[in-house]
Amino acid sequence: MKKVVLLICAILMVSSLSVFALNRKKGDIKHGKKIFREQCKACHDGKHAKKVRPAYKTRAQWKRYLKNDGKKLFRKHEKAKVKLNLTKKDINDLWSFCYVGALDSEKPQTCD
Ligand code: HEC
Repeated sequence: MKKVVLLICAILMVSSLSVFALNRKKGDIKHGKKIFREQCKACHDGKHAKKVRPAYKTRAQWKRYLKNDGKKLFRKHEKAKVKLNLTKKDINDLWSFCYVGALDSEKPQTCD
């Protein structure tokens, strides 16, 4: 029994390492909001690209886009030939903002 518990703990620890690379508590929500408003919203207005707001996706979905220094977010935009100008700090700030404004948060943010 003890061994099983230890094994589970070990697995949890290893898997949390990659997941917790994003640190929403260290992120600057206000700055994340500013980036979203100034950069993302300009394109994702339903004309240039489909409408995207923090409130349109769940926390888990945002995490998938933003983890690993925004790998999936960059991949999606490279495919669309869009170059995003974001530092690692920006990505983390966006994560903090999208976390508090996600679909499954208390106050979903539409930035409108
Ligand atoms: C220059 C225009 C442009 C900017 C700036 C931009 N995007 Fe995009 N984005 C696109 C295009 C084009 C696509 C792919 C086609 C689509 O989904 O409309 C895309 C795709 C996405 C997707 C995937 C959509 C889905 O549901 O599959 C997300 C999420 C996203 N962008 C978020 C962001 C965020 C967050 C920012 C701000 C950091 C941002 N985008 C900035 C143009 C842009």
